[in-house]
Amino acid sequence: MNGDDFLQLAAQRRSTRLFQERPVPDAVLRRIVAAATAAPTACNRQLWHFVAITDPEVKEQACRLSYAEQSYLYDAPVLLAVFYDASLESRNPCKTPYLSAGMAIYALLLAAEAEGLGSLYLGGIRVPRGLAGAVGAPPFLENLGLVCLGYRADTPPAPPRRPLDEVLSYNRCDLRAPHFPADIRPHLWSLRQLADFREKLLWYKGIGIDAQTLHVNPDPRFSPAIRHLTGRLGMLLARRERPRFLDVLAYNGDVLLQLLLAAGARLDKAYAYDLAPGILHYLRERLRPLGDFPNLEYLLNGDPDRPVIPLPDGQVDVMCCYQRLEQFADPQPLLEEMARVLAPDGRLVLLVSNRLYPHLYWYRRMCGQNYSLGRNWSRGPERLYEPAEILRHCRAAGLEAETVTGLQPVELKVAGWLEGWARRLGGHALGDRLAGWQAGHYAARGCSRWFARTLVFELRRAAP
Ligand SMILES: Cc1cc2nc3c(=O)[nH]c(=O)nc-3n(C[C@H](O)[C@H](O)[C@H](O)COP(=O)(O)O)c2cc1C
Repeated sequence: MNGDDFLQLAAQRRSTRLFQERPVPDAVLRRIVAAATAAPTACNRQLWHFVAITDPEVKEQACRLSYAEQSYLYDAPVLLAVFYDASLESRNPCKTPYLSAGMAIYALLLAAEAEGLGSLYLGGIRVPRGLAGAVGAPPFLENLGLVCLGYRADTPPAPPRRPLDEVLSYNRCDLRAPHFPADIRPHLWSLRQLADFREKLLWYKGIGIDAQTLHVNPDPRFSPAIRHLTGRLGMLLARRERPRFLDVLAYNGDVLLQLLLAAGARLDKAYAYDLAPGILHYLRERLRPLGDFPNLEYLLNGDPDRPVIPLPDGQVDVMCCYQRLEQFADPQPLLEEMARVLAPDGRLVLLVSNRLYPHLYWYRRMCGQNYSLGRNWSRGPERLYEPAEILRHCRAAGLEAETVTGLQPVELKVAGWLEGWARRLGGHALGDRLAGWQAGHYAARGCSRWFARTLVFELRRAAP
């Protein structure tokens, strides 16, 4: 193998998140682990241990105890848990145990690629000790995540890499910009990057594109915001004879799914618009088991560099956009597109998320906590949007607010938080009671607009 061959192997390796059921032969697995053990370690100590989890019961227990909520864990035929004894080099300022383990992990990934297997290193494990417990690892061994291995059932697109000139300098650390790009904040991205991110996020969330994979959250109950939104949309749709409905950036289709179930036959047309083909593919697969909706049409963005909804002017009677606006560097072009396709007497319901998490995000950043791990996406990188700013954008796009409502005043937020914890601890009965209480307190309060977690704007086209 020469340098080019190696570069090609390194470049073609991709994180795989969908696996075939076909088992991995033991001989192949052993070769892969042998490659890992050829990796360097500090003082050649080799304080690692790998546990290949293939038994579905152990796998299930490992996932449950570690609170690793990514579905590929269940799908991958082999989970290779990586352990290292970090205690012996705990004072080393270069964190050598973690580097040693990291080198072995990369060797695993490359070896898997060379064997024709897909792999994924997974650091998004909430409770590594749970994983250690599930396989009976002694306390001195630290779990450093796991590698999913198996024959791949996907062909993931290559994520962009930063150019070499940007990452390599000679003799002097020559950063092109004073900071690294704050790449994890979708609202700073170009539309292409945003499309790529939204597509990946589906995978990150562990949502099965093949409809076989487990959902991250198997609980079919929908979030209060979605329930509110669909309720409101239902009322708007009920007032029309054969309405045409558009879900802008339909994403995982929660809103669409509810509306189709409730009123699918009454709609003249339902359109699901999003930015990336992978998302629409996922939507199709998700909605397929519900039956045939001949009036449902999937719309892919018409231009990779700007939002273009491929519909004629004034085509849509009722439209919604659920917590997406805040992802855009400049939401104006999208709002203008929405205004364009809205019928003159049409209604648009816009949900813009929250005013509390962004503060949390700044706070976390201030404390230097890592807020960028996949699972935390939905927690962190949101945008602080003043209602007045959103209204300004709407007005500039030719939309006028009929109402602005705040969802979730503080007491509802607390109840939602308690509900989450109750469910996490297995108390679904209490969770249900709290959910019921929240539903009863749904109506907007006077002050809720300002303390709300989510703002709902009901918009129509501005008078000419
Ligand atoms: C330290 C680390 C932690 C990661 N954790 C996760 C994870 O929890 N879930 C996941 O889907 N991918 C995870 N990945 C995979 C990265 O998302 C992936 O490597 C990255 O998007 C680049 O894609 P590529 O591997 O196909 O080149 C992790 C990667 C690293 C290095």
